[in-house]
Amino acid sequence: MDVTRVLFVCLGNICRSPLAEAHFVAHTEKLGTAHLFVCDSAGTSNNHSGERPDRRTLNNAASHGLEITHSARQVQRDDFYNFDLLVAMDQENLSHLERMKPADTAARLLLLRDLDETDPGADVPDPWYGDEHLFEEVFHLLHRCTLRLHEHLYQETTNT
Ligand code: 4NP
Repeated sequence: MDVTRVLFVCLGNICRSPLAEAHFVAHTEKLGTAHLFVCDSAGTSNNHSGERPDRRTLNNAASHGLEITHSARQVQRDDFYNFDLLVAMDQENLSHLERMKPADTAARLLLLRDLDETDPGADVPDPWYGDEHLFEEVFHLLHRCTLRLHEHLYQETTNT
């Protein structure tokens, strides 16, 4: 079976996308599918490149027993060749990726919540200016949506 390479993308790569990546990897480890996926995350901006995730994201994830090992980086042109799927956290991230995507790549772009039965097409809210309740909400939202994404991609992998 082919490996599916998934890049999670937000603006700063210090709150939402590294958490989405950590959730997705945790799902694959729990469900025994880690050999089927390669995951990373990146930001459309380079404002936080090289930084560890936001302290509030790290603390919130740790309170749920989830470790995030990522350091921030900006999306590169090569990512559109090195990943099969780029998963945007919000509509602005998706628009940025659409503008940046080279014409000759087969990489697919997806808004994470397009697969969300609760509120399809909605943004994953940016918790940067929010309080701890928003970080908690984003944690559970990303847990649910990355599980749905995993189910979707696993079905695709096993049906081909
Ligand atoms: P993220 O959150 O895109 O989920 O990593 C943000 C992080 C930093 C900023 C905005 C959003 N910022 O304006 O610096």
